[in-house]
Amino acid sequence: MKRITIIGLLLLGLQLAAQSVQSPSKEITLNFSFSTKGEPTYEVFYKGKPIVKKSKLGFKLKDGTDFTSGFSSTTNTIYNIDDTWNPVLGEQSSIRNRYNELEVEMNQESSGKQLNVIFRIFNEGIAFRYAFPKQAKLDYFIISDEVSEFNLTGDHKTFWLPGDFDSQEYPYMENKLSEISTDKIDLNNGIGLKSIAGKYVIQSPLMMKSADGIYLNIFEAAVVNYPVMHLDLVPNEFKLKSHLVPNAIGDKAYLQAPCVSPWRTVMISDDARDIVGSKMILNLNEPSKITDTSWIKPMKYVGIWWEMHVGKSTWDYAGSQNAQNAADGQLKPTGKHGATTENTKRYIDFAAKYGFDGVLVEGWNVGWEDWFGNWKENVFDFTTPYPDFDLKAVNDYAKSKGIKMIMHHETSGSVANYERHLDRAMDLMKKYGYPAVKSGYVGRIIPRGEFHDGQTMVNHYNYVAQRMAENKLMVNSHESSRPTGYSRTYPNYIAAEAARGNEFNAWSVGNPPMHETILPFTRLLGGPMDYTPGIFEIKMSAYDAKKTEQVHTTLAKQLALYVTMYSPLQMAADLPENYEKHLDAFQFIKDVAVDWQDSKYLEAEPGDYLTVARKDKHSENWFVGAITDENARKSKINLSFLTPGKKYKAIIYQDGKTADWKNNPMSYEIITKTVTSKDAVQLNLAAGGGAAISFQPIN
Ligand code: NOJ
Ligand code: CA
Repeated sequence: MKRITIIGLLLLGLQLAAQSVQSPSKEITLNFSFSTKGEPTYEVFYKGKPIVKKSKLGFKLKDGTDFTSGFSSTTNTIYNIDDTWNPVLGEQSSIRNRYNELEVEMNQESSGKQLNVIFRIFNEGIAFRYAFPKQAKLDYFIISDEVSEFNLTGDHKTFWLPGDFDSQEYPYMENKLSEISTDKIDLNNGIGLKSIAGKYVIQSPLMMKSADGIYLNIFEAAVVNYPVMHLDLVPNEFKLKSHLVPNAIGDKAYLQAPCVSPWRTVMISDDARDIVGSKMILNLNEPSKITDTSWIKPMKYVGIWWEMHVGKSTWDYAGSQNAQNAADGQLKPTGKHGATTENTKRYIDFAAKYGFDGVLVEGWNVGWEDWFGNWKENVFDFTTPYPDFDLKAVNDYAKSKGIKMIMHHETSGSVANYERHLDRAMDLMKKYGYPAVKSGYVGRIIPRGEFHDGQTMVNHYNYVAQRMAENKLMVNSHESSRPTGYSRTYPNYIAAEAARGNEFNAWSVGNPPMHETILPFTRLLGGPMDYTPGIFEIKMSAYDAKKTEQVHTTLAKQLALYVTMYSPLQMAADLPENYEKHLDAFQFIKDVAVDWQDSKYLEAEPGDYLTVARKDKHSENWFVGAITDENARKSKINLSFLTPGKKYKAIIYQDGKTADWKNNPMSYEIITKTVTSKDAVQLNLAAGGGAAISFQPIN
């Protein structure tokens, strides 16, 4: 149901005076006005308090057009929209899209050109985008700079990432705006910082909290044919400005009128649950372009993956030394290759035995001997298996067991090569019946000089999603730019990584316990993340006594992540043998749903804790996930979300009494109870811990 009401149409011959629009709740007010120089500006208030002070809007174009001043407006239109839609897969089966919209047509007399701004005011924030209408004096054009400002009112606490145009795979740093500097960056995390563009460039989404308890988040939505927006910071003035990621020759975006920019968003609430549960980013994207979505299915999967990250096996078949030195030119197997037919069958058996949908296999195709380092343009062809991986036998075996195989396309950043091979790669997937692919963009981009976050690469990720959709295939991309809600438009874009995933815990300083309490307020606002939870063997010394790395978690927290870290594609990332040692705890991973009818955020504080209850889309089962940072926590969960009058069997998986992420991470206890909506449960979360609950109605 879509309801549109035009509540005001102003036709004025003169420059408009301030124009004000409110959220449907009337708690947020946005004022638009021109300065005396005709500079378009906006400001935002929440419950009467200033949140964004007067901030400028506009562009600098490469042809010299200065789209930041000299404007006047003749037309303002205000709409009132109330719409509900049903995502194919999601945190809830129906999403309300309710906002008031202000459209401002702006004319620049000196150039005879036109630029429009559209504002949408939701209950939990504001959004604006630019529109370049069709006009005689603007056809093709190049953006040199976007001047969207966000002038904040104080020295807010932030959870920030450095402005690396090639990666978001950093741990969040928690600092006040005035304290942000690259000196704070943790250099031990294994990622090169070469492409940081300046001392005070930081990434969006930027989650913040003001001293008086207001939560703010600056992000963007519907990044299509446009680069990613990073943010320039003037720390002591608390001013942020859009910093578009350039291409190899320094231009920002190539556009042709008529066209629109992505939405710039500022979420605002005094209750953090409103931000983490917001569907604003999805709402700002176009509805699905796929009409028959019956083939888009959620998936729980296992895979030949973690065993390479922990060093038990290798992606490559021969090892780089062997490959280069072999006198006869033949690859000499190292004996540690993970993706063998036999090993794959072992995972297929495991998946079938425990009710999983899919098996991912990495390292199945020729090229891994020298994939890293961006020396070669055509490392992989995405179709040639290693001699010990029998594509047909593996896929026949999977079919006989009712298991779907998940394809892996590591591009090693060589995107031109991937596009050249894409059709053949998809034909192979269709021939054997692979429904989904995990793609990857490790390393610097080829064509050289392009960034992961530039316009060309944004177009690449979106183009791959479109081409996969035409072939009824689903995509889960790693190292792509972070999603901004495009999965609404292409729901086959089922997940992405685009943040620091669980893998870092296997071979680096890892992710601090607070990491997973921040991601839902940042990365996950734009779409599902393939975080790969479920690690039960937490200390890497189990694989090699010399190793000191570990996952910064308790075992119970790994279970909770299946609920707190929303994704319709969820991996049980650990090795089969590790799950078989803890089948009682593994039961939760078997039971947990991945597609939801409803979600209720019960407790939320970015950087500290998060508790969410979700109802399975296809049953009356509910699941709760609760996680904490490095501090132990007690939490009383009121079960009023359960259906009144029904009795449920609740299975509570929580940290053992002496559990703690560092010294005793694998201690857990499982308690079974009968409960109703009138009950409450007390959860004890260890330092770095968590709890998970499943509720099944008792007939
Ligand atoms: C990085 C990805 O995030 C990881 O999941 C994958 O195993 C490696 N690249 C190799 O493709
Ligand atoms: Ca990665």
